[in-house]
Amino acid sequence: MRSGPRIGVLISGRGSNLQALIDAIAGGRLRAEIAVVISSRADAQGLERAARAGIETLTIPHRDYPTREAFEQRLVRELRARQVALVCLAGFMRLLGRTFLDAFPNAILNIHPSLLPAFPGVDAQRQAWEYGTKVAGATVHLVTGDLDGGPIVLQRAIAVEDDDTPETLAARILEIEHEIYPEAAALVLGGGWTIDGRRVRRTRTH
Ligand code: GRF
Repeated sequence: MRSGPRIGVLISGRGSNLQALIDAIAGGRLRAEIAVVISSRADAQGLERAARAGIETLTIPHRDYPTREAFEQRLVRELRARQVALVCLAGFMRLLGRTFLDAFPNAILNIHPSLLPAFPGVDAQRQAWEYGTKVAGATVHLVTGDLDGGPIVLQRAIAVEDDDTPETLAARILEIEHEIYPEAAALVLGGGWTIDGRRVRRTRTH
């Protein structure tokens, strides 16, 4: 039986992080329920993952809306109708503006495949590899108006090996993404934290 606070997951593609959230809930590591998965693309593989898990799906392409605001209003309406307490962006390829951000203050998470603030934006794993960093990793952060710039909830690092390619590095980073995203969602939903400046600080031990 699924129960607990309700999550809305926004995707645009593969959906492996969505799968990690589904698996963590099924495995009892995340006490929550995914109320809806919304995709900006009809061909997103993540939609099949959601359907397999019996989760309601919606496809809302931004191109169907005259403005970003109208698109975001629709997203907000659907999420609110399902009483979502937390929104998880999981490979969602649209930038979100004030209409969306103001609707869910400190309740939107994103996962990014680098140790932020290093390498924001696209192709972060390749950026790290090309730069020649010796550690790489993944970050879960609260979403603000700054691209990949909100307060950090959780990070995990891995070593970059000499024989790594951008692809092998991205694959190992993806493994830790799948660990830390459910952990971060559990932490945020569990409460007992506060934001100090831009630092997410625990006020009690979980
Ligand atoms: C992940 O690497 C995530 O960090 C980034 O987009 C990718 C999405 O992958 N934001 P998936 O759709 O979750 O498999």
